[in-house]
Amino acid sequence: MKNINTFSRMKSDKEKITMITAYDFVQAQIAEEAGIDIILIGDSLATTIQGKENTLPVTVEEIIYHTELVRRGAKNSFIVSDMPFMSYQIDEKEALKNAGRFVKESGANAVKIEGGINIKHIIEKITGAGIPVISHIGLMPQFINTMGGYKVQGRLESEIEKLVFAALELEKAGSFMIVLEAMPENAADAVQRAVKIPTIGIGAGRYTDGQVLVFHDAVGMLSSKPPKFVKKYAETRNIMIKALSEFKEDVKNNIFPSSDNIY
Ligand code: KIV
Repeated sequence: MKNINTFSRMKSDKEKITMITAYDFVQAQIAEEAGIDIILIGDSLATTIQGKENTLPVTVEEIIYHTELVRRGAKNSFIVSDMPFMSYQIDEKEALKNAGRFVKESGANAVKIEGGINIKHIIEKITGAGIPVISHIGLMPQFINTMGGYKVQGRLESEIEKLVFAALELEKAGSFMIVLEAMPENAADAVQRAVKIPTIGIGAGRYTDGQVLVFHDAVGMLSSKPPKFVKKYAETRNIMIKALSEFKEDVKNNIFPSSDNIY
């Protein structure tokens, strides 16, 4: 199984790192079979699986449950649990307790945490206990209320400086990787050059050390139009609708089951 040293080696060798979200057994099997480097049980499960407006309502119990399903489907993959909103902000003790649950109860190899220098002490505590941490800066969906919505970050030089400073501090605190979300590629490039740890982009251009996409976006499962930065690699929603419509027609017309389908 890959580990944090594999990813650091990949950055040094300029070998791009792939990460995809997955939330259940079959998605995890598919990601592992495709050879994806890291599977993230993202709090995006709120929107992709639960049909909610945003990621804020996701609970620790839900991430534990979905991490268990993913671990069962991807026994040999490096899997990462997203720490939900308010599971790490209250105090270091609670943050460590929750991070530990993802590892002990559901087999996660690491956790991901949204936040900048304000959560440095939490990252120190969690990594100090032996739990690898991926930081997440730029657009942080858990901060939509304080950021005033889903806005691209790092457009101004002063914002880029802040992103670079935050990334360096998070690296110092012990993070082994940083997700950079929704920023111009010159901003992501500045961060990528400043830190030694790998950077993984989502809507952050071409220069990061790897890329992450949400499973449902990548395979075209959603009815909504994906954000501009997404590349849809398939249109599985249409394929599934066609399959189920054909099943319906076959039943209505007494074509299914046929003599091939009976005991
Ligand atoms: O929850 C999620 O899916 C994420 C990725 C978009 C990085 O945080």
